[in-house]
Amino acid sequence: EPRPTAPPPLDEIKLGGLGASRRRVEDNRFIRGKGNYFDDVVLPGMLHMEVLRSPMAHARIKSIDTSKAWEIPGVRLVLTGEALATRNLGWMPTLSYDTQAVLATDKVRFQGQEVAAVVADDPYIAKDAVTAIQVEYEPLPPVVNPEQALAADAPLIRDDKLGQEDNVVFDWEVGDKAGTERAFDEADVVSRVKLHYPRSHPSPLEACGAIADFDRSTGKLTVYLTTQAPHIVRAAVALIAELPEHQIRIISPDLGGGFGNKVPVYPSYVVAILASILAERPVKWVEDRTGNLISTGFGRDVYLDGQVAMRKDGKILAVKMNTTSDHGAFFADAQPSKFKIGLMHSAFAAYDVPYAHLAARGVYTTKAPGGVAYRCSFRVTEAMFFQERMVQAAAEDAGIDQAAFRRLNLVKDDDFPHRTPYGFLTDSGQYGKALDLALKEIDYEGFLVEQAEARKRGRLLGIGISTMTEPLGAGNSREYDILGIKMFDSAELRVHMTGKALLRTGAKTQGQGHETTWAQIVAHELGLPADDIVVEEGDTDTAPFGMGTYASRSTPVAGAAIAMAARKVKAKARKIAAHLLEVSEEDVEWELGRFYVRSQPSRGVTIQEACLAAYSNMPDGLEPGLEAVSYYDPPNLTWPFAAYVCTVEIDPETGVWDVLRFVAVDDCGVRINPLIVEGQIQGGLTEAYAMASMQFITFDADGNCVGSNFMDYLLPTAWETPGWELHEVVTPSPHHPIGAKGVGECATVGGPAAFVNAVVNALSHLGVRNVDMPMLPDRVYEALSKGVDVS
Ligand code: CDP
Repeated sequence: EPRPTAPPPLDEIKLGGLGASRRRVEDNRFIRGKGNYFDDVVLPGMLHMEVLRSPMAHARIKSIDTSKAWEIPGVRLVLTGEALATRNLGWMPTLSYDTQAVLATDKVRFQGQEVAAVVADDPYIAKDAVTAIQVEYEPLPPVVNPEQALAADAPLIRDDKLGQEDNVVFDWEVGDKAGTERAFDEADVVSRVKLHYPRSHPSPLEACGAIADFDRSTGKLTVYLTTQAPHIVRAAVALIAELPEHQIRIISPDLGGGFGNKVPVYPSYVVAILASILAERPVKWVEDRTGNLISTGFGRDVYLDGQVAMRKDGKILAVKMNTTSDHGAFFADAQPSKFKIGLMHSAFAAYDVPYAHLAARGVYTTKAPGGVAYRCSFRVTEAMFFQERMVQAAAEDAGIDQAAFRRLNLVKDDDFPHRTPYGFLTDSGQYGKALDLALKEIDYEGFLVEQAEARKRGRLLGIGISTMTEPLGAGNSREYDILGIKMFDSAELRVHMTGKALLRTGAKTQGQGHETTWAQIVAHELGLPADDIVVEEGDTDTAPFGMGTYASRSTPVAGAAIAMAARKVKAKARKIAAHLLEVSEEDVEWELGRFYVRSQPSRGVTIQEACLAAYSNMPDGLEPGLEAVSYYDPPNLTWPFAAYVCTVEIDPETGVWDVLRFVAVDDCGVRINPLIVEGQIQGGLTEAYAMASMQFITFDADGNCVGSNFMDYLLPTAWETPGWELHEVVTPSPHHPIGAKGVGECATVGGPAAFVNAVVNALSHLGVRNVDMPMLPDRVYEALSKGVDVS
């Protein structure tokens, strides 16, 4: 009788494993209107909360009269800062070791700050009742930029803080100051730029909200919350309210975008929780659009004085960066606390720079808290923008073509792992290959000829490059923590007897497609079809402890934990397979989805057969069941690379600029799902374009927020958004279990400089070296008509 032959190996792509462009499984419910967002949650007896916000940027509170609000029928509670203070909740700690007022007591410190709250039977009564609260303010001088904050006669904004005598939040430095100074002394050319990365807002389409439900009979507090990091919130509530973790359940349902906006703990969350405890009823608070735009965490708002020291041939010898960041009234950045200005010192990681020094100063102003990592790893967006603008100016000042300048200074392929000038260790990359691919695709040389011709006829064409690596995957426990909690992440894989599985992680998707991609990692490791794996995140009662999703850390950290949990499952399944095949474990080989006997490949068991045996036919001495948990502490960050090249044409009559082409080459290591990666890059580039071209949130001299609605603060639609031409290079991360690097924020981080470099390049022959974002037509027109920089 012929020996039966082994079945053909499984096709990983068909299984939905690594590299499969699987359609997003979560979209099935989203596009049918069946998503379960926070606002869809309706609890019996639920009350509604509305918040009274300060109309003034800076004022002493003389009195608050709530009597008229109490008189309105249907009002259940009126809360002020004083009421909170009696319960020790007037102030709360921030993630950056500062304090933030929950409801203002002494002063208001920014327009839109929370002053009082009303809880009522319905949201309309609550809205009416907040307008009945009378607050008497004594105006104080507003402080709307660092210059005013640092002036000798500046009013002290944080007079609540003992020992705080000025408006400086921190003064921090890193790098080799003496070495940098020496290199500057020896340099042939020194290039200097002064830049501002303006305030921007993450603006998720779903604003923030909370439904707090305290059950006095069980003592359990359940909070439905728009949060990207449910376990961090649980930890914060446990510490502040001194409740045991099992009495706190944070549920983050489907989120309509986050982009960093849903990382901080906002005052209204705390008030809603207290209100539910006092009212003994569920209390719901939903933020409106203006509330979201004026009071929740802003991104950026950093000024740079940057210098590059070079040899004549353009080789960079050293860089100096001097930054001043505007943090608003409370230092509420969500960032690994070891570094005061986040990861600003990841700048120049892609370049071979022997010496560097960064001096960073943060200031308080009478603006809403800033520094939120908007689609960014803690100031990395500013770091890479500054770096790429400095590089362009340096190339120009050295009289060297911007592409050649980069080729000369970028880290070479055989220099990895590479120690960056500020001390990080980059893991891998092929920077030259990515840059060359981008230049080839855009026909760099051809464009330069076209540009020169066009200039002769008065047309303004420009080309801008941005090349950067950024640290994704916060982060290893040696260097990163939030409030002392290390930044590992987790996965719990429960494989049922039929080979179907439930996967839970400590991450929290906000539209990134985790339900789709996480199943692909398990499919890759175990050979189970991705469709057989269901993914759950966001409920602290069921998910393993994790630090949440921001800073593109999910794939580098939770993604690694998933692979490790699957490997634990596989190791146990191997023992079961050996038992079923009646051979020793050492004689068992693995191919995707199947164990077989080394000497007899036709004899094997499928992973599904091993799963069934884990519950029905396990070997003596082996625990039944097939589950594993992994907590993953990454050895390093992952360092993806991007080379973006943009061409623009500016209308000399109006200053309006159009993107002609935008070529993006991204290297995020192994791509789990190429379709989702492309979606992430397209979305990121669209946000980069928005910041470069149109988003303007600023403050007038009185501290009024200008840009508090979507008529003034613009989100790009498909109409304005250019087409993106995407390409890839793949350099696996050497330390990530499946070689993947993070990608979610790369395009937002690296994109803006490509646009600005292109516009400035189009105007360089007129003597223009800088146009600050947003490059609105009037700014560009001023630059081109007067031949000046516009800041
Ligand atoms: O932390 P966050 O989910 O925002 O960012 P990420 O880890 O960069 O992942 C964004 C999305 O892209 C997720 O669905 C990832 O699984 C997917 N991704 C991928 O398919 N391949 C990569 N190398 C990186 C991310």
